[in-house]
Amino acid sequence: MSFCCAAERQFGRESAERDLRRYRRRGADAVTKLMLAQLRRWPLKNKQLLNIGGGIGVINAELAADGIAGTTLVEASSAYLDVARRELQSRYGARSTEFLLADFARISDTVADADVITLDRVVCCYPDAEGLLRGAAARTRQLLAFSYPQDRWYMRMITAIQNFFRWMKGNAFRTFVHSPQQMSAVLERAELVRAGTQGTLVWAVDLYRREGDIPQTLDEGDAGHRGKSPHDQAG
Ligand SMILES: C[S@@+](CC[C@H](N)C(=O)[O-])C[C@H]1O[C@@H](n2cnc3c(N)ncnc32)[C@H](O)[C@@H]1O
Repeated sequence: MSFCCAAERQFGRESAERDLRRYRRRGADAVTKLMLAQLRRWPLKNKQLLNIGGGIGVINAELAADGIAGTTLVEASSAYLDVARRELQSRYGARSTEFLLADFARISDTVADADVITLDRVVCCYPDAEGLLRGAAARTRQLLAFSYPQDRWYMRMITAIQNFFRWMKGNAFRTFVHSPQQMSAVLERAELVRAGTQGTLVWAVDLYRREGDIPQTLDEGDAGHRGKSPHDQAG
């Protein structure tokens, strides 16, 4: 069974509508809020956002008000993509939006580059996390943020139990606890450097930036506006 068929079954219409109701009631989940906070340390105005495995589009929705110039969402489940399309079009108005139904790892060469790329709780749904991240890293001009399950014994145990029950029910979808070291090595080989990391007991959120020519964080920018330090002025 292809990855997209398994994703269609796992992430169907009912769960997409349920996720939307939860988002409207409670806002973004805790791990997504951590990722948004990390992203908002950087200038986002007029940037292109690519959200891979974006689900119902919570990150796109949240960042619409931060001046994002346009956004693309790639999703393996048509049910989630339909909800995202419905919800995001009004938030983005005349700004460009693109919705692609695909396994991103298979189409990464054909997707346009973006300034900011996000994969929130996506690598844990995909067997080849390294291939997925390699494709994403190749597309980012500036920032790449992703979240993944902590590589701890209890997460490996929970994942094994969940996968066992899926197997019992004939559900081909699986979740994975991938090696943080191997994922990080892929991004570093693509000349990205880690600029932030945070976590909960369950999730880790890492933010990488492209080495070299990219804007400073807003904190650094503010420091610049407040004036140079005496040390700088002496220089
Ligand atoms: C756990 S959900 C998270 C959705 C959303 N990012 C969020 O945090 O609310 C994972 C989503 O990633 C999608 N996904 C996983 N691997 C993908 C891939 N290779 N290409 C496109 N979508 C993918 C799944 O279809 C699913 O909707």
